[in-house]
Amino acid sequence: MARLTWLGHASLLYSDGRTSLAVDPWLEGNPKAAMKAEDVRAQFILVTHNHADHVGDVPAIARRNDALVISTFEIATALEQSGLRAHGMHLGGQHRFPFGRVRVTPAYHGSGIAGGHAAGFVVDAFGARVYFAGDTALFSDMRLIGDLEQPDVAVLPIGDHYTMGPDDAVLAVEWLRPRFVLPIHYNTFDLIAVDADAFKAAVEARTQSRVELLQPGGSLEL
Ligand code: NI
Ligand code: MN
Repeated sequence: MARLTWLGHASLLYSDGRTSLAVDPWLEGNPKAAMKAEDVRAQFILVTHNHADHVGDVPAIARRNDALVISTFEIATALEQSGLRAHGMHLGGQHRFPFGRVRVTPAYHGSGIAGGHAAGFVVDAFGARVYFAGDTALFSDMRLIGDLEQPDVAVLPIGDHYTMGPDDAVLAVEWLRPRFVLPIHYNTFDLIAVDADAFKAAVEARTQSRVELLQPGGSLEL
């Protein structure tokens, strides 16, 4: 059984109870943090891009857990240079890790690092396929990601301003056709305040997908 837990903002944990993946952990200074960085137990950390609200606690969590950080080449190289264990991949590439398969997907957003590119991930592990879109604008190749991967869950930013907002995210769901949608990157602070209930209603009126509105700390069992 797999459990996907929202830790607030864009921070998540994906675990089968034995192996845990932290995604974009930012808890220290995160006004919606559901736990403390020092309490995160993870063997792997996935990093979509190098903005502070995604990498804030990566070094500390990686060091404490001796975790392997999976990210794009530029971020992985920088982390290795600071003494961490990292595995650099890039857009379109797939790799099998001990826990399962990861595909790196494009994301339309700043990378936060020179020469880099923002990314998302499809993680095929623990009996489910999860698409972590990362921070991104809507882009029509989400339809291709839906075709290639048929994700069980799409973890999508809906907060607008820095990423796609709720209206665009409804289109993303139409194209991705996941069973479940977990909206993130909203309501952390005023600039990204949105009506998530309206988003859920719009998605469920127009698609077969179900939107899971979690509170930080809440989880979805797959
Ligand atoms: Ni960002
Ligand atoms: Mn962000």
